[in-house]
Amino acid sequence: MTSHEWKTHNSDGGNRVVVTKNLPGDRWLRILTWADCRVEICTSTDALSVAEIKAAIGKRCDAVIGQLTEDWGDALFAALKAAGGRAYGNYAVGYNNVDVAAATRRGIAVGNTPGVLTETTAEMALALTFAAARRTGESERFLRAGKYRGWLPTLFLGKLLYGRTVGIVGAGRIGAAYGRMMVEGHKMHLKYYDLYPNPDLEACIKDYAGFLKARGETPVSCTRSDTLEDLLKTADCVSLHTVLDQSSHHLINAERLSLMKTDAVLINTSRGPIIDEAALVAHCRAHPDFRAGLDVFEDEPALKPGLNELENVVLVPHIGSATSWTREGMAILAAANVAGILMGFPVWQQTDITPFLKEDPPRAAPSIINAPDLNLTG
Ligand code: DGY
Repeated sequence: MTSHEWKTHNSDGGNRVVVTKNLPGDRWLRILTWADCRVEICTSTDALSVAEIKAAIGKRCDAVIGQLTEDWGDALFAALKAAGGRAYGNYAVGYNNVDVAAATRRGIAVGNTPGVLTETTAEMALALTFAAARRTGESERFLRAGKYRGWLPTLFLGKLLYGRTVGIVGAGRIGAAYGRMMVEGHKMHLKYYDLYPNPDLEACIKDYAGFLKARGETPVSCTRSDTLEDLLKTADCVSLHTVLDQSSHHLINAERLSLMKTDAVLINTSRGPIIDEAALVAHCRAHPDFRAGLDVFEDEPALKPGLNELENVVLVPHIGSATSWTREGMAILAAANVAGILMGFPVWQQTDITPFLKEDPPRAAPSIINAPDLNLTG
């Protein structure tokens, strides 16, 4: 064990499960108790190092539920395997912190938590979009500093997004939900860039355009851009929703920023390193009408020098999924992944994971990333 504080739940459980952070709600604990787990929870808010997690795994550990702030590479999967571990549950939908191949080589199942973050994270992207476009951060700082002397025709002029063009990079669940919120709520035209088409998104927007037309209103449109460059040049606001891997590292760099409209809005709720943050600082300094809204950072939790001082940037501390409903749902899915593997249940084959949030959930592990490679699908 590490020097951090730990607490134990269901100490008589036959399976030992280490949980590296306390999780919200209590349903997840009931799931693990039902699966005969002794649950050891680190109650510290500090991110645990690899050495500390190794010490927590110890000589015998059946599974771990860990965090996106931890480096789940070869060293930890070797330690977990040596301790008899069979499952690792990442308390996140993203798993760029996990070397899935290293887990697969050792027969360890890796779970994640999709399907409960979609609208919550899309809403945060929306909140950042309008906070950036309408300058709520800098105007609030101005007000709180006692500088407000009365209404003025030119005080904090921002950018109207209604009816303009929104671009999404990555049209998966969260990107598509954000896109629909912007189109259906703000009558924007949508451009998306993704390796794969999203026919459902295109159909929804086509139907919505028909609805608007029938009412005599200007219809909206949805176009899949052939190139990222085309989207960046033409969108009034761009929201990033792609996974972080080698191909998306610094996807938004100085050159691509220079293609964007000088008063565009750039939003990132995915992963920090998708933007070259130093290049963004330079770009925002050079273009005061350009605005950014960031939930994630390249060197999280640190910010690149200068970012903190920029008035045209809105910053929040990686809270895109931070609603009670979502974080409790993530805890339920992380626990159900581990419990499902320890109980020998099959892996859930449907994208809708909401049955796991109800009483009497399916007897399955909801989302195991390496299920096909471990032959856990049947
Ligand atoms: C995730 O789940 O990947 C999010 O970044 C956590 O909010």
